[in-house]
Amino acid sequence: MSDRRTFLKTGLAASLGLSGASYAKNYPTTPAPKSNKAFRILHMTDMHIRPEHDAPRRYTRIMKEALKSAGKIDLVLNGGDSIYAADYNHIKKGRVLEQWKIWDDTIMPPLKGIEILHALGNHDMWWATAKTDPMYGKDYVLQRLGQKERYTSIERGGWLIITLDCNNAGLLDDEQLNWLHAEMKRLPDTPMLVMSHQPILLVSDVIKSGLNKRQKQIINPFVDGKTHARPVHFISGHVHILDTLAYNNVSFHCNGAFSGAWWEENIYAKDCSYQGTPMGYSIIDIYPDGQFVNQYHDITDCKDGKIIK
Ligand SMILES: [Fe+2]
Ligand SMILES: [Fe+2]
Repeated sequence: MSDRRTFLKTGLAASLGLSGASYAKNYPTTPAPKSNKAFRILHMTDMHIRPEHDAPRRYTRIMKEALKSAGKIDLVLNGGDSIYAADYNHIKKGRVLEQWKIWDDTIMPPLKGIEILHALGNHDMWWATAKTDPMYGKDYVLQRLGQKERYTSIERGGWLIITLDCNNAGLLDDEQLNWLHAEMKRLPDTPMLVMSHQPILLVSDVIKSGLNKRQKQIINPFVDGKTHARPVHFISGHVHILDTLAYNNVSFHCNGAFSGAWWEENIYAKDCSYQGTPMGYSIIDIYPDGQFVNQYHDITDCKDGKIIK
C-alpha cells in the first residue's frame, strides 16, 4: 500500500485520572498515546464502487493491505456512497444491479466476520423507478447492505456509536433528531461517536454562511461548554475532502474518500486525489477514558494520470 502519508487528525488529551464520567478537555491537535486498550474502527466512506477504472481489483488489493497493516479491526463503519451512483434520473435497473453485484462480490468478502455498520449515501438510492418497485429508495439499499435500520446505535469499547441517515431535507427528519437527542440523554456521560454520510458541520459552512437551523438543532444540545464534558465525535464523508473542527467538547471529522476522485486517474488531478485529499481510509482508535485518534491513510495508486498498482 502506498501509505506514504498518515494524517494524525485528532486526538483527545489524556484522561486526568478523575473517576466516573470526567474527561480531559478535548484539544483537537493533541495525539493520544498508544495503548492496546483501543477499540479499533475502520472508517471507509465514499467507496463509489463501479466496474470502470479497474476499481474492483484496486479495492481488493488496497483492502488486503489495509487489514494487514491495521492488525485488528473491531468494527467497520461504512460511511455511504457505497456504489458509484444510482440516484441520477438516467440510471437504469441494470446499472443499479451491476454496481451492487460488485459490492457483494468484491467489497464485502474481505470484511467477512467483522461487525459492520452502514450509513446511507446520497448516491446509493435509486429513485428513477416507480415507488412500488422493491428497488426504489432507501429500503432496497438497506436490504443490499444487510442492515435493518437507516439509523441505529450500539455500545462498544465504552462508547456509544451511532449512525445517522442524513438523506433528508435539512439533514435529519424530526423523528431522527428526537431519537438522537434521546440517545444522548439515555447515556449522558458516555463518549459518543456519530457517523453520518453528509457532514453535520464543515469549516466551510462556518466560513461561507454560518450554521443553518437544523445544524444548530443537532449540535447545540451536545455542546454543554463544561470543562470536563464527555467527548463527542461526529464522523462523515460525502465531500471527499479532509476537514476537521472542534467546538468545545464536540469534534467533527470529515474523512476523505476511499475512491478519491471516484477512482478516476485524471479527472481533477493526475493522482486520483480530489481537491488536495488523496484516496484513503481512516483507522479510528477509541478508548474507554474518552481518548480518540483518527488516522487517515493515503492509498493513492495513481500517478501521472495512470493507475500504477
Ligand atoms: Fe461521495
Ligand atoms: Fe455523497
